[in-house]
Amino acid sequence: MIALGSDHGGYELKQEIKKYLDETGIQYKDFGCNSTESCDYPEYAKAVAQSVSKGECEKGILICGTGIGISMAANKVKGIRAAVCTDCFMAEATRLHNDANILALGGRVVGAGLAIKITDTFLNTEFSGDERHKRRISQIESV
Ligand code: RB5
Repeated sequence: MIALGSDHGGYELKQEIKKYLDETGIQYKDFGCNSTESCDYPEYAKAVAQSVSKGECEKGILICGTGIGISMAANKVKGIRAAVCTDCFMAEATRLHNDANILALGGRVVGAGLAIKITDTFLNTEFSGDERHKRRISQIESV
């Protein structure tokens, strides 16, 4: 189960991501927002991050205008590693090296076609499991 969330700046891209998830048969839960009306991204970041942190959802996707604010908020939740990605290299690397559990996208930064490729890469790349990456991830937890 994938947790989805956005603010108004990410709402339209979230709808495109939902179409991709529907087509590929991936289940998701949308934590809002539900329109392009102006709203505050930390609320949706918190809902998605908590559901991933508790293990209710395996991974999350958060979208705001840039992907930055919503990832900053999500990263305040213990155990969350949210990564803003603007290309497929970043999406692959953050799964391999950081075991990122939330993908953050900017609805005003990337087009729907690229965002879907980034999402596909993120969801289909496993963590490498390398000791050096495990060590660094555990160091993040103790910062
Ligand atoms: C909303 O205007 C915008 O600030 C928000 O979507 C996001 O880009 C913040 O980081």
